[in-house]
Formats: sequence, C-alpha cells, structure tokens
Amino acid sequence: MTELAARVRELVRERALRLGDPLVALEECASTNDEAKEGARAGAPHGATWLAESQTRGRGRQGRTWSSGPGDALLVSVLLRIPCEPSRVPQLSLACGLAVRDAVAKAVSDDASVVVKWPNDVLVRGRKVAGILIESSISAGPPARTSHVVVGIGINVHARELPDELQAIATSVARERSAVGGTSAPDRAEILADVLAGLDRDVELVAFRGLTKVRARLSARDALAGRTVEVDGFRGVASGIDDEGRLLVRSAETGEIRRVVAGDVHLGLRK
Ligand code: BTN
Repeated sequence: MTELAARVRELVRERALRLGDPLVALEECASTNDEAKEGARAGAPHGATWLAESQTRGRGRQGRTWSSGPGDALLVSVLLRIPCEPSRVPQLSLACGLAVRDAVAKAVSDDASVVVKWPNDVLVRGRKVAGILIESSISAGPPARTSHVVVGIGINVHARELPDELQAIATSVARERSAVGGTSAPDRAEILADVLAGLDRDVELVAFRGLTKVRARLSARDALAGRTVEVDGFRGVASGIDDEGRLLVRSAETGEIRRVVAGDVHLGLRK
C-alpha cells in the first residue's frame, strides 16, 4: 500500500465518506479508468476508488492523452453505481467538475480564481490544473439506465516545472499555492478526501433531480460566461449552461443560440 493510500483510507474513515471505499492503490497502471471499468465488470461496489502514482496510458477527453510525472498528480477513478437516465450523464459530469473545483480552491486557498471551464476542466487564473474523463455504461432497459459511471480525475498537484509548451496553459496546485504566499506543500490525501466528499454531496442529487440545486454554484464559477468562444467552427458568446448541461453559445452576428453537447471550446477575446 502506498503512503498516500494509507492517508486517504484514514481520512475516508475519519470523515465517514461514502466514496473512497474500497480503495485500490497502485504504483503504476495503464489508466485508472481502465482499472475502474474492469472493477465494475467484476462487481465492485458504488464508491470503489482506484488511485495510482503513475499511468502509462492516461487518457483525456476527446481522445487526448493525459500524462504526469510519477507522484506529481492525483490520478484517481471513482466508480458510481447510480442508475439514472443516460441523458443525465452530462449534468453529472458538470457536478464532478464542481466537486473538483471546490477541492482545488480549498487547496490553493484562493476561492475566487478557481473556475470550471465547460464541461469540467478546472482552471486557476486561466490555466488548467485538473481534468475529468467520465465514462459510463448503459444497461439496455427498457427503460435504459446507467449501470455504472466511472469518474476519472487528474489533478496536477506537485509539479513545479512544466514543459515550455504548457507554461501558458497549465499549472499545478503547488504553483498556485506559492503564488498566493503559501509555503507548505499541498496534501494530496486531503485534496482527494475533499473531492470524494464533494462528489458524494452532489452527484446523486444531480443524477436524479438535474442541475437545479447546483445551478447557482455552477454559474458563479463558470469560466466561460460572457467570453467569446469558438466550438466546432461556431463563434459566439458563451451564455451559460442549460438544464441538460449543454453550453449555450450566442452568435454575435445573428443572435442564433447554439446548444453544444460535446466538444472542445476555445476561448477568444473578452466580450
Ligand atoms: C482531460 O482533461 O481531458 C481529462 C483528463 C482525465 C485524466 C484522468 S487521470 C485519472 C483517470 N485515468 C485516465 O486515464 N484518465 C483520468
């Protein structure tokens, strides 16, 4: 068992968290999401969590890779067994972004500068600190329901040096803590316990009732609101998120509102 895992187990027990148990700790794996999917197939329960110090084939959204130095990041996948309508998964994915945002904001001690970029990237002062890859499995039904959802989370925690090409777009909790005068190293176990507590607080609520209860928090932390963005060649002003979890983009020329279900959002100039 890794030292990190031992601390996480302790916090899960102390804080009586419903997620994070059982905890599977790995020095290295291809991808914690793959481990979690395999675990789901083998009957692992709601809340089971896979944690790795490094991944050899970490995956990101939109077919991208996710890489980090050994021990630098929190690499974790949480198995949710919430039988909700498949159409609720995008909303669930936004709730996961909020949970990670809240944990990062606490770790950085700078609530105002930590935001969620739709659908669920977490940015600090405009640079990405965490990403989430949600993978769900749907039972045939009728009615069709999610049989499980794997929430894969990567948070850059300790990295201080970043490759040149990432300097302008990525950051880490350690760098951001220093930027606001923090002197101690961030605690990955605390951050993970906060993520698990946040997920537990919101995911069932959103899975069964939709975004209503988290909408205000989501809007207050929306990195894109009022910004000029481009998605799949469509340019406009990001104008919030609808009840289905879709990003609303309003064309400045025609006023047309595009509801974006999935895709990469590129930031343009401020309105
Ligand atoms: C993204 O920003 O595109 C999402 C990145 C998600 C990375 C995490 S790391 C833990 C889990 N295992 C993976 O292979 N991916 C997710």
